[in-house]
Amino acid sequence: MELLLQDKTLLMTGGTSRLGQALVRKAAREGARVFFTFFKSFRAAQELEETGAQGFSLDLANVPAVDRFAALFKEKTKGLDILIHNAAATADAPIHKMSEAQWDAVMRVNLKAPFYLTQKLLPLLLRRTPSKVFTLVSRAGIHGLAGASNYAASKGGLIAMTQALARELGREKVLVNAVNPGFMRSSMTAHVPDEVLQKNLQESPLQTFSDPEEVADFLIYLSSDRMRQVTGQVFHFESRSF
Ligand SMILES: NC(=O)c1ccc[n+]([C@@H]2O[C@H](COP(=O)([O-])OP(=O)(O)OC[C@H]3O[C@@H](n4cnc5c(N)ncnc54)[C@H](OP(=O)(O)O)[C@@H]3O)[C@@H](O)[C@H]2O)c1
Repeated sequence: MELLLQDKTLLMTGGTSRLGQALVRKAAREGARVFFTFFKSFRAAQELEETGAQGFSLDLANVPAVDRFAALFKEKTKGLDILIHNAAATADAPIHKMSEAQWDAVMRVNLKAPFYLTQKLLPLLLRRTPSKVFTLVSRAGIHGLAGASNYAASKGGLIAMTQALARELGREKVLVNAVNPGFMRSSMTAHVPDEVLQKNLQESPLQTFSDPEEVADFLIYLSSDRMRQVTGQVFHFESRSF
């Protein structure tokens, strides 16, 4: 049976996220050599390593730590086929209460780290043709989200960065695309009040939340050699976005 990611090397941040766990497991099953980063979820990371994937504890808000990780990763691998920027932080507050620290923390993890990690690992990506970079974005980055201007700005910036890098790196056959997974039940959305959840559902034509397994399947397909000519796109699972 053909494995979609046979002999591919894949690195994703936030492997311990709801979406990340599905993706790590599926990528390993599809034959990829899988590496992932995580922050605090040591137990989940340990369980994921049973798939053969290798996890690295890394605070993406800490630039020197990201630097050290990139140097270590370059020693470990000869090339990188797929880089997925999936980790994300939130620190919600209305504008009059949002501290500079809350603003910076979210921008560092959600926007600066994807820039910095892509820059540091670019030499590895350039050794594979084509190689692929994915960012996980959000409806908030296009339509905004009240009480989360830091998160919305970080995801809007990430969409713009995705499109800029697609233009910049296209000639070198690095494909760069964004996926908005839609509203998934995860630690990120656990605090959302029930009435907001119900409103979201009612506004969605399909009247369902997104299934992380389906989002992971889509990313696996995009990561495979079946997709070689798509770059600079934002794919939406969020049906309210059209
Ligand atoms: N859930 C949704 O409804 C939704 C909607 C639209 C877009 N998205 C996007 O989809 C992606 C996955 O979302 P999710 O809901 O599956 O996420 P999640 O379950 O909330 O997990 C967040 C991930 O980010 C990692 N992380 C947080 N702060 C970090 C830091 N300082 N350094 C390194 N890693 C850090 C966490 O690591 P540890 O667990 O190890 O601490 C975890 O792996 C995110 O980019 C999110 O913005 C989600």
